[in-house]
Amino acid sequence: MINIERLMSRLEELSKIGKTEDGGVTRFSFTKEEAEANALVARYMEEAGLTVEYDAVGNLIGSREGEEGLPVILLGSHIDTVPNGGKFDGPVGVLSAIEVLQALNEEGVSLRHPVKVISFKDEEGSRFGFGMIGSRAVAGTLAMEDLERTDERGVSILQAMEEAGFPLDAAKLQTAKMDKVKAYLEVHIEQGKVLERNNVGVGNVTGIAGPVWLKMKVVGEAEHAGATPMGQRKDALVAASMIIQEVEKIARMHPPAVATVGKIAVSPNGVNVIPGEVEWTIDIRSTDEKRRDEVERAIVAFAERTAEERDMRLEISELQRVPPVGCDERIQTLIQESIAEIGSETVSLPSGAGHDGMQFKDRIPIGMIFVRSIDGISHNPRELSLAEDIEKGAEVLYRTLLKLDRE
Ligand code: GLV
Ligand code: MN
Ligand code: MN
Repeated sequence: MINIERLMSRLEELSKIGKTEDGGVTRFSFTKEEAEANALVARYMEEAGLTVEYDAVGNLIGSREGEEGLPVILLGSHIDTVPNGGKFDGPVGVLSAIEVLQALNEEGVSLRHPVKVISFKDEEGSRFGFGMIGSRAVAGTLAMEDLERTDERGVSILQAMEEAGFPLDAAKLQTAKMDKVKAYLEVHIEQGKVLERNNVGVGNVTGIAGPVWLKMKVVGEAEHAGATPMGQRKDALVAASMIIQEVEKIARMHPPAVATVGKIAVSPNGVNVIPGEVEWTIDIRSTDEKRRDEVERAIVAFAERTAEERDMRLEISELQRVPPVGCDERIQTLIQESIAEIGSETVSLPSGAGHDGMQFKDRIPIGMIFVRSIDGISHNPRELSLAEDIEKGAEVLYRTLLKLDRE
Protein backbone atom coordinates (compact mmCIF):
# COMPACT_ATOMS: atom_id res chain seq x y z
CA MET A 1 0.00 0.00 0.00
CA ILE A 2 1.27 3.42 -0.96
CA ASN A 3 1.71 5.61 2.11
CA ILE A 4 0.66 8.92 0.57
CA GLU A 5 1.20 10.90 3.79
CA ARG A 6 4.84 9.77 3.82
CA LEU A 7 5.25 10.58 0.14
CA MET A 8 3.70 14.06 0.48
CA SER A 9 5.68 14.92 3.61
CA ARG A 10 8.91 13.96 1.82
CA LEU A 11 7.90 16.11 -1.14
CA GLU A 12 7.30 19.03 1.19
CA GLU A 13 10.57 18.50 3.08
CA LEU A 14 12.56 18.26 -0.17
CA SER A 15 10.97 21.45 -1.53
CA LYS A 16 12.48 23.47 1.33
CA ILE A 17 15.97 22.98 -0.10
CA GLY A 18 16.57 25.79 -2.57
CA LYS A 19 13.24 27.42 -1.75
CA THR A 20 12.78 30.86 -3.33
CA GLU A 21 11.05 33.94 -1.93
CA ASP A 22 7.83 33.35 -3.82
CA GLY A 23 7.51 29.71 -2.85
CA GLY A 24 9.32 28.21 -5.83
CA VAL A 25 12.51 26.15 -5.90
CA THR A 26 15.88 26.77 -7.58
CA ARG A 27 18.25 23.80 -7.48
CA PHE A 28 20.86 23.70 -10.19
CA SER A 29 23.19 20.77 -10.76
CA PHE A 30 26.42 20.39 -8.82
CA THR A 31 25.47 23.06 -6.30
CA LYS A 32 25.28 22.97 -2.52
CA GLU A 33 21.46 22.89 -2.69
CA GLU A 34 21.44 19.95 -5.04
CA ALA A 35 23.94 18.02 -2.90
CA GLU A 36 21.82 18.68 0.17
CA ALA A 37 18.67 17.55 -1.65
CA ASN A 38 20.36 14.37 -2.85
CA ALA A 39 21.59 13.64 0.69
CA LEU A 40 17.99 13.86 1.87
CA VAL A 41 16.78 11.61 -0.95
CA ALA A 42 19.59 9.17 -0.08
CA ARG A 43 18.17 9.04 3.45
CA TYR A 44 14.69 8.25 2.07
CA MET A 45 16.24 5.49 -0.07
CA GLU A 46 17.85 4.00 3.01
CA GLU A 47 14.56 4.17 4.89
CA ALA A 48 13.05 2.26 1.98
CA GLY A 49 15.64 -0.49 2.48
CA LEU A 50 17.67 0.32 -0.63
CA THR A 51 21.43 0.19 -1.00
CA VAL A 52 22.56 3.70 -1.85
CA GLU A 53 25.44 4.89 -4.03
CA TYR A 54 26.45 7.71 -6.38
CA ASP A 55 27.69 6.75 -9.83
CA ALA A 56 30.61 8.38 -11.65
CA VAL A 57 28.64 11.45 -12.83
CA GLY A 58 26.76 11.96 -9.58
CA ASN A 59 23.50 10.14 -10.29
CA LEU A 60 22.09 8.96 -6.96
CA ILE A 61 21.03 5.32 -7.13
CA GLY A 62 19.11 3.17 -4.64
CA SER A 63 19.17 -0.56 -5.39
CA ARG A 64 17.09 -3.55 -4.44
CA GLU A 65 18.37 -7.02 -5.22
CA GLY A 66 16.68 -9.57 -7.44
CA GLU A 67 17.42 -12.97 -8.92
CA GLU A 68 20.93 -13.50 -10.17
CA GLY A 69 21.40 -12.70 -13.86
CA LEU A 70 18.10 -10.93 -14.49
CA PRO A 71 18.16 -7.41 -15.97
CA VAL A 72 17.38 -4.41 -13.81
CA ILE A 73 14.10 -2.52 -13.90
CA LEU A 74 15.00 1.15 -13.62
CA LEU A 75 12.70 3.74 -12.03
CA GLY A 76 13.53 7.41 -11.73
CA SER A 77 13.31 11.10 -12.43
CA HIS A 78 15.28 14.17 -11.33
CA ILE A 79 15.53 16.65 -8.47
CA ASP A 80 17.20 19.59 -10.21
CA THR A 81 14.93 22.48 -11.23
CA VAL A 82 14.63 25.38 -13.65
CA PRO A 83 15.20 28.87 -12.16
CA ASN A 84 12.33 29.51 -9.74
CA GLY A 85 10.60 26.28 -10.71
CA GLY A 86 8.00 24.26 -8.87
CA LYS A 87 8.35 21.52 -6.30
CA PHE A 88 6.69 18.70 -8.28
CA ASP A 89 8.62 18.59 -11.58
CA GLY A 90 11.02 15.68 -11.00
CA PRO A 91 10.69 15.01 -7.26
CA VAL A 92 7.25 13.40 -7.73
CA GLY A 93 8.91 10.72 -9.88
CA VAL A 94 11.90 10.08 -7.62
CA LEU A 95 9.83 10.00 -4.43
CA SER A 96 7.03 7.88 -5.96
CA ALA A 97 9.60 5.29 -7.02
CA ILE A 98 11.12 5.21 -3.51
CA GLU A 99 7.63 4.95 -2.00
CA VAL A 100 6.75 2.00 -4.25
CA LEU A 101 9.87 0.10 -3.21
CA GLN A 102 9.36 0.95 0.45
CA ALA A 103 5.75 -0.32 0.23
CA LEU A 104 6.92 -3.56 -1.41
CA ASN A 105 9.49 -4.06 1.35
CA GLU A 106 6.96 -3.39 4.08
CA GLU A 107 4.57 -5.89 2.53
CA GLY A 108 7.34 -8.47 2.13
CA VAL A 109 6.73 -8.72 -1.62
CA SER A 110 9.71 -10.14 -3.46
CA LEU A 111 10.38 -9.38 -7.10
CA ARG A 112 12.31 -11.46 -9.60
CA HIS A 113 14.16 -8.56 -11.13
CA PRO A 114 16.58 -6.25 -9.38
CA VAL A 115 15.15 -2.72 -9.23
CA LYS A 116 17.04 0.57 -9.09
CA VAL A 117 15.66 4.02 -8.31
CA ILE A 118 17.71 6.78 -9.86
CA SER A 119 17.75 10.50 -9.18
CA PHE A 120 19.28 11.70 -12.44
CA LYS A 121 21.88 14.43 -12.58
CA ASP A 122 20.74 17.65 -14.31
CA GLU A 123 17.65 16.82 -16.32
CA GLU A 124 16.63 20.44 -16.86
CA GLY A 125 19.76 21.84 -18.48
CA SER A 126 19.28 25.13 -16.62
CA ARG A 127 22.87 25.58 -15.58
CA PHE A 128 24.84 24.61 -18.69
CA GLY A 129 22.18 24.83 -21.45
CA PHE A 130 22.64 21.08 -21.81
CA GLY A 131 20.23 18.76 -20.03
CA MET A 132 19.75 15.10 -19.15
CA ILE A 133 23.42 14.77 -18.24
CA GLY A 134 22.87 11.84 -15.86
CA SER A 135 20.57 9.91 -18.19
CA ARG A 136 22.96 10.42 -21.12
CA ALA A 137 25.71 8.87 -18.98
CA VAL A 138 23.50 5.89 -18.09
CA ALA A 139 22.55 5.45 -21.77
CA GLY A 140 26.23 5.62 -22.70
CA THR A 141 25.82 8.63 -25.00
CA LEU A 142 27.56 11.29 -22.89
CA ALA A 143 30.93 12.24 -24.37
CA MET A 144 33.82 13.89 -22.52
CA GLU A 145 33.56 16.80 -25.04
CA ASP A 146 29.99 17.44 -23.84
CA LEU A 147 31.45 18.29 -20.46
CA GLU A 148 33.34 21.28 -21.87
CA ARG A 149 30.12 23.35 -21.93
CA THR A 150 30.16 26.15 -19.42
CA ASP A 151 27.71 27.92 -17.14
CA GLU A 152 27.26 31.70 -16.98
CA ARG A 153 30.34 32.08 -14.82
CA GLY A 154 32.50 30.10 -17.24
CA VAL A 155 32.64 26.95 -15.08
CA SER A 156 32.60 23.82 -17.24
CA ILE A 157 30.49 20.75 -16.46
CA LEU A 158 33.73 18.84 -15.86
CA GLN A 159 34.99 21.46 -13.39
CA ALA A 160 31.62 21.59 -11.65
CA MET A 161 31.67 17.82 -11.31
CA GLU A 162 35.13 17.89 -9.78
CA GLU A 163 34.17 20.66 -7.34
CA ALA A 164 31.12 18.61 -6.32
CA GLY A 165 33.31 15.57 -5.59
CA PHE A 166 32.84 13.70 -8.87
CA PRO A 167 36.12 14.06 -10.78
CA LEU A 168 35.71 12.31 -14.11
CA ASP A 169 37.76 10.85 -16.91
CA ALA A 170 36.74 8.84 -19.97
CA ALA A 171 37.29 5.47 -18.28
CA LYS A 172 35.26 6.46 -15.24
CA LEU A 173 32.47 7.83 -17.44
CA GLN A 174 32.07 4.36 -18.96
CA THR A 175 31.21 2.94 -15.54
CA ALA A 176 28.02 5.01 -15.39
CA LYS A 177 26.60 3.21 -18.43
CA MET A 178 24.02 0.58 -17.49
CA ASP A 179 24.01 -2.44 -19.73
CA LYS A 180 21.46 -4.91 -18.48
CA VAL A 181 18.25 -2.90 -18.13
CA LYS A 182 14.88 -4.48 -18.87
CA ALA A 183 12.85 -1.25 -18.84
CA TYR A 184 12.71 2.31 -17.55
CA LEU A 185 9.58 3.64 -15.84
CA GLU A 186 8.98 7.22 -14.72
CA VAL A 187 6.15 9.00 -12.98
CA HIS A 188 6.05 12.73 -13.78
CA ILE A 189 3.59 15.57 -13.54
CA GLU A 190 1.90 16.28 -16.86
CA GLN A 191 2.79 20.00 -17.07
CA GLY A 192 -0.18 20.46 -19.40
CA LYS A 193 -3.98 20.38 -19.27
CA VAL A 194 -4.98 17.17 -21.03
CA LEU A 195 -5.63 15.10 -17.89
CA GLU A 196 -7.45 17.98 -16.26
CA ARG A 197 -9.69 18.41 -19.29
CA ASN A 198 -10.42 14.68 -19.25
CA ASN A 199 -11.13 14.83 -15.55
CA VAL A 200 -8.66 12.09 -14.61
CA GLY A 201 -5.78 12.05 -12.11
CA VAL A 202 -3.34 9.88 -14.07
CA GLY A 203 -2.53 9.07 -17.68
CA ASN A 204 -0.38 6.91 -19.92
CA VAL A 205 2.27 8.66 -22.02
CA THR A 206 2.55 7.67 -25.68
CA GLY A 207 5.76 9.53 -26.53
CA ILE A 208 7.90 12.57 -25.81
CA ALA A 209 8.50 15.64 -28.00
CA GLY A 210 12.14 16.23 -28.91
CA PRO A 211 13.82 19.57 -28.18
CA VAL A 212 16.44 21.42 -30.20
CA TRP A 213 18.14 24.19 -28.26
CA LEU A 214 19.99 26.88 -30.21
CA LYS A 215 22.02 29.84 -29.09
CA MET A 216 21.91 32.89 -31.37
CA LYS A 217 24.03 35.99 -31.15
CA VAL A 218 23.91 39.15 -33.25
CA VAL A 219 26.83 41.51 -33.16
CA GLY A 220 26.21 45.16 -34.07
CA GLU A 221 27.95 48.24 -32.75
CA ALA A 222 27.78 49.64 -29.21
CA GLU A 223 27.63 53.44 -29.56
CA HIS A 224 26.37 56.53 -27.85
CA ALA A 225 22.56 56.56 -27.61
CA GLY A 226 22.42 60.35 -27.85
CA ALA A 227 25.09 61.10 -30.42
CA THR A 228 24.40 58.42 -33.05
CA PRO A 229 21.71 59.34 -35.64
CA MET A 230 19.02 56.75 -36.25
CA GLY A 231 20.20 56.05 -39.77
CA GLN A 232 23.73 55.21 -38.68
CA ARG A 233 23.16 52.56 -36.07
CA LYS A 234 23.79 48.86 -35.82
CA ASP A 235 21.47 48.13 -32.94
CA ALA A 236 21.77 44.43 -32.10
CA LEU A 237 18.69 44.45 -29.90
CA VAL A 238 16.45 45.73 -32.69
CA ALA A 239 17.69 42.95 -34.98
CA ALA A 240 17.26 40.38 -32.19
CA SER A 241 13.74 41.52 -31.44
CA MET A 242 12.74 41.16 -35.11
CA ILE A 243 14.09 37.61 -35.14
CA ILE A 244 12.41 36.75 -31.83
CA GLN A 245 9.03 37.96 -33.12
CA GLU A 246 9.50 35.71 -36.12
CA VAL A 247 10.26 32.70 -33.89
CA GLU A 248 6.72 32.94 -32.57
CA LYS A 249 5.18 33.51 -36.01
CA ILE A 250 6.95 30.55 -37.62
CA ALA A 251 6.09 28.15 -34.78
CA ARG A 252 2.44 29.21 -34.95
CA MET A 253 2.39 28.23 -38.61
CA HIS A 254 3.76 24.72 -37.86
CA PRO A 255 1.57 23.01 -35.26
CA PRO A 256 2.18 20.91 -33.18
CA ALA A 257 5.67 22.44 -33.03
CA VAL A 258 6.38 25.05 -30.36
CA ALA A 259 9.27 27.50 -30.07
CA THR A 260 10.41 29.70 -27.20
CA VAL A 261 13.01 32.35 -26.50
CA GLY A 262 13.47 32.00 -22.75
CA LYS A 263 16.83 33.54 -22.06
CA ILE A 264 18.43 36.70 -23.38
CA ALA A 265 21.49 38.79 -22.59
CA VAL A 266 22.05 42.33 -23.89
CA SER A 267 25.51 43.80 -23.92
CA PRO A 268 26.73 46.21 -22.67
CA ASN A 269 23.23 46.64 -21.16
CA GLY A 270 23.32 50.36 -20.43
CA VAL A 271 20.49 52.91 -20.64
CA ASN A 272 22.45 55.26 -22.88
CA VAL A 273 24.36 52.72 -24.96
CA ILE A 274 23.10 51.24 -28.23
CA PRO A 275 23.13 47.46 -27.71
CA GLY A 276 26.26 46.07 -29.38
CA GLU A 277 25.61 42.38 -28.82
CA VAL A 278 22.56 40.31 -27.99
CA GLU A 279 22.62 36.62 -27.25
CA TRP A 280 19.53 34.46 -26.73
CA THR A 281 18.38 30.88 -26.65
CA ILE A 282 15.70 29.23 -28.79
CA ASP A 283 13.93 26.04 -27.65
CA ILE A 284 12.07 24.32 -30.52
CA ARG A 285 10.09 21.12 -30.00
CA SER A 286 7.67 18.74 -31.60
CA THR A 287 6.63 15.11 -31.44
CA ASP A 288 7.08 15.31 -35.23
CA GLU A 289 10.82 15.66 -35.86
CA LYS A 290 10.40 16.79 -39.48
CA ARG A 291 8.07 19.57 -38.42
CA ARG A 292 10.49 20.68 -35.72
CA ASP A 293 13.38 20.78 -38.16
CA GLU A 294 11.28 22.80 -40.66
CA VAL A 295 10.67 25.37 -37.95
CA GLU A 296 14.36 25.46 -37.14
CA ARG A 297 15.33 25.98 -40.79
CA ALA A 298 12.79 28.78 -41.25
CA ILE A 299 13.99 30.57 -38.12
CA VAL A 300 17.64 30.27 -39.12
CA ALA A 301 16.89 31.52 -42.66
CA PHE A 302 15.01 34.56 -41.32
CA ALA A 303 17.79 35.32 -38.82
CA GLU A 304 20.43 35.14 -41.56
CA ARG A 305 18.42 37.47 -43.81
CA THR A 306 17.84 39.95 -41.02
CA ALA A 307 21.50 40.04 -40.00
CA GLU A 308 22.58 40.49 -43.60
CA GLU A 309 20.09 43.29 -44.28
CA ARG A 310 21.33 45.11 -41.20
CA ASP A 311 24.97 44.36 -41.89
CA MET A 312 25.53 42.54 -38.62
CA ARG A 313 27.32 39.34 -37.72
CA LEU A 314 25.14 36.39 -36.73
CA GLU A 315 26.46 33.42 -34.76
CA ILE A 316 24.40 30.29 -34.23
CA SER A 317 25.39 27.32 -32.10
CA GLU A 318 23.52 24.19 -31.15
CA LEU A 319 23.20 23.52 -27.44
CA GLN A 320 21.37 20.22 -27.65
CA ARG A 321 19.33 18.17 -30.11
CA VAL A 322 17.24 15.30 -28.81
CA PRO A 323 15.02 13.23 -31.12
CA PRO A 324 11.37 12.66 -30.13
CA VAL A 325 10.81 9.20 -28.65
CA GLY A 326 7.88 6.81 -28.49
CA CYS A 327 7.03 4.95 -25.30
CA ASP A 328 7.17 1.16 -25.55
CA GLU A 329 3.83 -0.30 -26.73
CA ARG A 330 3.92 -3.25 -24.35
CA ILE A 331 4.70 -1.08 -21.32
CA GLN A 332 1.93 1.32 -22.36
CA THR A 333 -0.49 -1.62 -22.26
CA LEU A 334 0.69 -2.56 -18.77
CA ILE A 335 0.27 1.04 -17.63
CA GLN A 336 -3.22 1.25 -19.16
CA GLU A 337 -4.22 -2.00 -17.44
CA SER A 338 -2.91 -0.66 -14.13
CA ILE A 339 -4.85 2.59 -14.59
CA ALA A 340 -8.02 0.60 -15.27
CA GLU A 341 -7.41 -1.53 -12.16
CA ILE A 342 -7.45 1.53 -9.91
CA GLY A 343 -10.82 2.45 -11.39
CA SER A 344 -9.70 5.34 -13.53
CA GLU A 345 -10.50 5.97 -17.17
CA THR A 346 -7.44 5.26 -19.35
CA VAL A 347 -6.31 8.43 -21.06
CA SER A 348 -3.17 8.37 -23.24
CA LEU A 349 -1.30 11.51 -24.24
CA PRO A 350 2.05 12.68 -25.61
CA SER A 351 4.48 14.69 -23.50
CA GLY A 352 5.39 18.18 -24.67
CA ALA A 353 8.10 18.41 -22.01
CA GLY A 354 11.35 16.49 -22.21
CA HIS A 355 12.27 13.68 -19.81
CA ASP A 356 15.29 11.55 -18.95
CA GLY A 357 13.78 8.46 -20.60
CA MET A 358 14.34 10.11 -24.00
CA GLN A 359 18.00 9.30 -23.72
CA PHE A 360 17.21 5.58 -23.80
CA LYS A 361 15.76 5.72 -27.32
CA ASP A 362 16.56 2.47 -29.18
CA ARG A 363 18.37 1.18 -26.07
CA ILE A 364 15.90 0.59 -23.26
CA PRO A 365 12.08 0.33 -23.55
CA ILE A 366 10.47 3.17 -21.61
CA GLY A 367 7.09 3.86 -20.05
CA MET A 368 5.81 7.02 -18.39
CA ILE A 369 2.88 7.71 -16.08
CA PHE A 370 1.58 11.28 -15.92
CA VAL A 371 -0.05 12.87 -12.89
CA ARG A 372 -2.56 15.70 -13.41
CA SER A 373 -1.17 19.26 -13.11
CA ILE A 374 -3.58 21.85 -11.75
CA ASP A 375 -4.25 24.45 -14.48
CA GLY A 376 -1.43 22.80 -16.44
CA ILE A 377 1.07 25.16 -14.83
CA SER A 378 4.71 24.09 -14.55
CA HIS A 379 8.21 25.59 -14.45
CA ASN A 380 6.58 28.08 -12.13
CA PRO A 381 6.27 28.32 -8.32
CA ARG A 382 2.50 27.82 -8.79
CA GLU A 383 3.04 24.31 -10.10
CA LEU A 384 0.65 21.99 -8.24
CA SER A 385 -0.48 18.38 -8.23
CA LEU A 386 -2.88 17.01 -5.64
CA ALA A 387 -2.03 14.27 -3.14
CA GLU A 388 -4.89 12.10 -4.43
CA ASP A 389 -3.47 12.21 -7.96
CA ILE A 390 0.11 11.65 -6.83
CA GLU A 391 -1.15 8.63 -4.90
CA LYS A 392 -2.76 7.30 -8.10
CA GLY A 393 0.49 7.83 -10.00
CA ALA A 394 2.46 5.87 -7.39
CA GLU A 395 -0.20 3.16 -7.30
CA VAL A 396 -0.05 2.78 -11.09
CA LEU A 397 3.75 2.61 -10.92
CA TYR A 398 3.49 -0.09 -8.23
CA ARG A 399 1.14 -2.18 -10.34
CA THR A 400 3.07 -1.68 -13.58
CA LEU A 401 6.31 -2.69 -11.87
CA LEU A 402 4.74 -5.93 -10.61
CA LYS A 403 3.40 -6.76 -14.06
CA LEU A 404 6.72 -6.03 -15.74
CA ASP A 405 8.56 -8.13 -13.20
CA ARG A 406 6.45 -11.16 -14.08
CA GLU A 407 7.00 -10.84 -17.84
C1 GLV B 1 12.39 19.97 -19.06
O1 GLV B 1 11.45 20.19 -18.32
C2 GLV B 1 12.27 20.28 -20.43
O2 GLV B 1 11.31 19.80 -21.06
O3 GLV B 1 13.07 21.08 -20.94
MN1 MN C 1 10.95 17.12 -15.25
MN1 MN D 1 11.19 20.52 -16.10
